[in-house]
This record gives sequence, C-alpha cells and structure tokens, in this order.
Amino acid sequence: MKLSQRIQNSTESETTRFSARVQELTARGKRIINLAVGQPQFDTPAQVIAATVKALEARKTKYSPVGGIASLKARLAQQFDGYDGDNIIITNGAKQALYAAFQVICDPHDEVIVPRPCWVSFPEQVKLAGGRPVLVDTCNHQLDCDAVARAIGPQTRAIVINSPNNPTGAVYPKTALEKIVRLAQQHDLYLVADESYDLFVYDGLKSESLFQFEQIRDRLIVIRSFSKHFNMTGFRVGYIATDSFIISALTRLQSHLTGNVCTFVQHGALSALDLDEQLPAAWRRELETKRNLAYHRAAELFDCIRPHGAFYLFPDISGQLKAGMTALAFATHLLEDTGVAVMPGEAFGMGGHIRICFAVAEDKLVSGFDKIAEAL
Ligand SMILES: Cc1ncc(COP(=O)(O)O)c(C=O)c1O
Repeated sequence: MKLSQRIQNSTESETTRFSARVQELTARGKRIINLAVGQPQFDTPAQVIAATVKALEARKTKYSPVGGIASLKARLAQQFDGYDGDNIIITNGAKQALYAAFQVICDPHDEVIVPRPCWVSFPEQVKLAGGRPVLVDTCNHQLDCDAVARAIGPQTRAIVINSPNNPTGAVYPKTALEKIVRLAQQHDLYLVADESYDLFVYDGLKSESLFQFEQIRDRLIVIRSFSKHFNMTGFRVGYIATDSFIISALTRLQSHLTGNVCTFVQHGALSALDLDEQLPAAWRRELETKRNLAYHRAAELFDCIRPHGAFYLFPDISGQLKAGMTALAFATHLLEDTGVAVMPGEAFGMGGHIRICFAVAEDKLVSGFDKIAEAL
C-alpha cells in the first residue's frame, strides 16, 4: 500500500533515532556515556511531582479545555506584558507547538527560513505542513541577517529564530533580532521564536525575547516549554504565546489533533511556576560550570565556538576526521567502539560537526572527553 507523499518526503528525527540506538545498547548491558541527550540531568522538582500526584488523586483525570486549564494559561500570560490567558495555548511540548504553528501559517509551497545549523525537527515540520524549509547558514553560529534578507522571496512566509540555540548554544543579541524584526515587517512575514532554552544563558547575558518588540505582536509566535526549563521533558508540556487570532486557529487545529494536554500534568506544570527562584538559578550556575569544563576540553581537541546558552557545544571536527569520513560515521564509531554517544552534525543540517551535551554528571563529562580524545 502506498503511503502519502508527505510522509515519504519526511525523515525520522535523527536525534530520536540515535537515542533509540543508545537505549538499545544500554539494554544489552553496554555502558554508554551519553553526551547525545537533549535534557538536563537534574531531577524533576519534588514540588512538581507532588502537585501532579495530588491532581491525580483529586481525579483531575478528565478532558481539560482544548487550549489548556485557565489557571495555567493565566499564570503563563503574566510573563508577556499585555497578554492574558486568551493569548496562550498549552501544547504537548514545544515540539507539538512548533508543528502546530507551521500547520496554521503555511500554505503549500510557502517557504520558511531556518538558520542553519538548526534543531532537527524544524525542516521536517515545515515540510509536513506543505512548506519548503530554506536553510540559511549562520556565521560563527550567529545570525547572518544579510543572508537571511537575500533568502527572502515571494513565497517566504516565516523566519524561525531559536535563541538560545540548539545545537550551537548561540544566544542572539538584541541588535540581530532588531534586524530580523525589520525584515519581518518589510516583507510581511511571521516570526516563529523558539525560546525553549530561555533559562539557560551564561556569562551574565540575558535571553533576548522577540516579544520585547511590540511592533511585531501580530506576526510573532513565541514558543516555550517546561521540558528543559524545569527538567520535565517526559511531562510533555509546552506553550505558545501569540495574538488571539492565531490562538483561535491553533485551538481549532488542536481540537482535532490531541484534544488537550494531559489534565493532571497541567496541574503539575502550574506548580512549577511557583518554584523558589533559587532553584532554577542553581541549575543555571551548575550548567555554567559544566559549560566551562566542556568548552575547555572541546577546545583542546577541536575548533570550537564558546556557547553562551543552552547546554550544547557544536565543535567543528572536520580537521580531525580521516579523509572521506563523515561526522555521522565518526559518531557511530565513537558510540559502537568506545561507548560515548554524541550527536552527529548531520542531524542539524551541518556535517563536519558533532553536538556534545554538557548537562550530564561531571564524572561522565570528564570520562566522555577522555574517551573522545583516545578515540581521536
Ligand atoms: C530547539 C528545540 N525546540 C523544541 C524542542 C522540543 O522540546 P519539547 O520537549 O518541549 O517538545 C527541543 C527539544 O530538544 C529543542 O531543542
């Protein structure tokens, strides 16, 4: 039987495929140092677990409103000056939020500009929405706004901005965002801002949100998530903050797609917003220390740009590869032969690189780098 052209044109997420291989090897008893993961090593806060259990015990086990429970939406809206609960929709993680966003803004053949390297699902999600991803190279991991401007054509519908960035850890400065804002206004484009890593910014910098630019509120779709921010990746809670007109479209889609995000989990998420601020601050400090360690080790081995955010390094390993060897082949060898998992750059549209996650226990980070050095 024939599958749809749409699904035939899409590829499985390379990160989930690689993670499945890691799990398979672990299940067979192989000891793996997993620097390929995309989640922090911290525990989900006890307060969140307790609130989720409490919600379950209170039988919050039925459908919730499609867009999410009112209390959670209202609390999230407080982060966005001028917004209320009607500007928020709760989704199954940022992943579904992004998928939904592309579904509601793309018509067939519309183009969406995605700076490269990029998170693995952006191009595939655009394709699944009938659109065409246009990958525009970054320059030293920063936005090349002139290249973005050159890539804009009559079919361009949106630009994706992901800062802090996966896989590079780059944090885009306000000046770059200003240029993108001007382009969006000049060419009547949507801006899809993936701010999944907004908590994780180091060196005294702050995550600059596109939301600060009031003039683009009608064309801005902000996506954030509880996954990385509160160590709740398995809860699957994310959200979109945008114009209520776009929220209506997203709600229509969600009413046919998932109905709602798991009701008791939304209550758990609500409790995360009441956490003592000291806790996320401590996570960030610990990750900054690990960033320093990981960057120091990576820079000894590879050509590596120091990341200011997220929890990844994205070194250029091309100088270390044997002639003809790809980063995918290198990562596969590293996993199978030395038991260290890193993500090949191909997953992010850029061969010759690997992504190393430093949000792991320090001893694992150190022995992971020791083994990478030996393997080289
Ligand atoms: C840039 C980026 N966006 C979105 C997601 C999806 O996150 P969530 O777990 O909230 O679906 C990830 C997860 O790795 C990511 O790195």
